[in-house]
Amino acid sequence: METYTPGYSPLAAAFMVRRRLDPNGAFFLSHLKPGIRVLDCGCGPGTITRDIAKQVSPGEVTGADFNADQLALATREAKAQGIANVEFREASVYDLPFADDSFDAVFSHALLEHLKEPVKAAIEMKRVLKPGGMIGVCTPDWGGFLLAPPSEELLLAFEAYKALQNRNGGDVYCGHKLGIYLNVAGFEALVMRSRYENYDPLTTIGDFLAVNHEEAGEPGYAATWRAWGRRPNGMFSQAWVSCTGRKPADAAKR
Ligand SMILES: C[S@@+](CC[C@H](N)C(=O)[O-])C[C@H]1O[C@@H](n2cnc3c(N)ncnc32)[C@H](O)[C@@H]1O
Repeated sequence: METYTPGYSPLAAAFMVRRRLDPNGAFFLSHLKPGIRVLDCGCGPGTITRDIAKQVSPGEVTGADFNADQLALATREAKAQGIANVEFREASVYDLPFADDSFDAVFSHALLEHLKEPVKAAIEMKRVLKPGGMIGVCTPDWGGFLLAPPSEELLLAFEAYKALQNRNGGDVYCGHKLGIYLNVAGFEALVMRSRYENYDPLTTIGDFLAVNHEEAGEPGYAATWRAWGRRPNGMFSQAWVSCTGRKPADAAKR
């Protein structure tokens, strides 16, 4: 089993709730038609899930995650916002508690890069997808970073973060492999895209990475990220890669 690197510190939670369907899931918008049933795997605090619910209303959305606290937060916020067509279920993406062919679309943002077995997860997502249904997955790829200002110290901290996530069973270079994973899992009509995200202020990402290092017992790298996040001339441009695909409608290919 892998270890989920970001964990659930207040800072990690604050970091995740910034995400929205647009821009984070914009690559999947054209597949989110009103009335369809959607599953969001690794939904976390559910900001994107709730946006999907608004997009497909009166269709229904299920957010699945293996962390009960995230689901409680996601459920509370959906109630507070009066979004009735969304539910949240505790589940591992490797063993989804849904019947075969249950959903019209399956979405997953920022999950596969943390998994030791992304193909196994993709096959399970395909199982619960209806024939002809669409999948959309998106992860960062640390091969596409632009970090400023460049320094030896920052480079060491950058390499250390990559090593930490890989040690935990994830893959910081997951993004450009998404097409391979969905292809092996049996999806067709694959489309890969990328975009850059810039983090402002820089402390949002600097402090987030610092906490991950602190939790891993690496205070030196944490100090580097914290100090860098407070520099007046920094930039953290992260490459996000998405891949969409279709579950074959043809029974012979399924
Ligand atoms: C980086 S967060 C992304 C949350 C949300 N999708 C977003 O982009 O804002 C990844 C989420 O996946 C969940 N997760 C990690 N491994 C999982 C697994 N094997 N099964 C289900 N959920 C998992 C974590 O609990 C976490 O909430």
